[in-house]
Amino acid sequence: MKKTAMVYEGKAKRVYRTDDEKLFVMEFKDDATAFNGQKRGTIRDKGELNNKISAVLFELLEKNGIKTHFVKLLSDREMLVKAVNILPLEVIVRNIAAGSMAKRLGLEEGLELKRPVLEFCYKSDELGDPMINTYHVLAMDLAAEDEIRFIEETSFRVNEILKEYLINKGIVLVDFKLEFGRFGGEILLADEISPDTCRFWDAKTREKLDKDRFRRDLGRVEEAYKEILSRVKV
Ligand code: C5P
Repeated sequence: MKKTAMVYEGKAKRVYRTDDEKLFVMEFKDDATAFNGQKRGTIRDKGELNNKISAVLFELLEKNGIKTHFVKLLSDREMLVKAVNILPLEVIVRNIAAGSMAKRLGLEEGLELKRPVLEFCYKSDELGDPMINTYHVLAMDLAAEDEIRFIEETSFRVNEILKEYLINKGIVLVDFKLEFGRFGGEILLADEISPDTCRFWDAKTREKLDKDRFRRDLGRVEEAYKEILSRVKV
């Protein structure tokens, strides 16, 4: 398997084609951005840490029957993944009010929600990933009705699997963002699952162990990512 042309470069990752048209290589960078690119920086070893954390969590989900794009780790910063066609949707699941939900609805950060909340955002850097609902998804032809249903059910199952696994490691899963892609006739969970895309709080102290440390200049950013890897590793 040989890495060939780059097909995509995002804020935190590069994706390459391979000599197998069904496989991509995903390479994780140390670059970090927040507030839709307005804040930029690097987090030392983030690429390596997010690659490894994502691999552990994708394997956990696969073991629990969730189909993902993950194939295997290739190196410290690279994983082999199935060559999915990413849907232009961000799926956010929340257990505790934080971030944009706390702000938009005037809720105190840390409020336990009565039940998980699922939000869709339209993936668009120019528009700042605006929140949309399923009517928009259908009207804009971003996904079909059965695909939406599958994505919603899968996202809530992912939440249950991750929540239970993480609480046993002393981590509260506050919220997270998922992306899905089409692969043949299937929808696979894709992208990454890492402190860049999830809010993780220490179960005892409620200390933030995720990208909010970078977004909010809380310091000890690398340490938080390292702490998450050391706790999630089996
Ligand atoms: O900012 P907000 O509160 O909406 O973020 C909810 C969750 O989705 C957080 O865990 C955040 O890290 C993640 N997210 C993401 N990529 C985005 C927006 C949010 O990974 N573009």
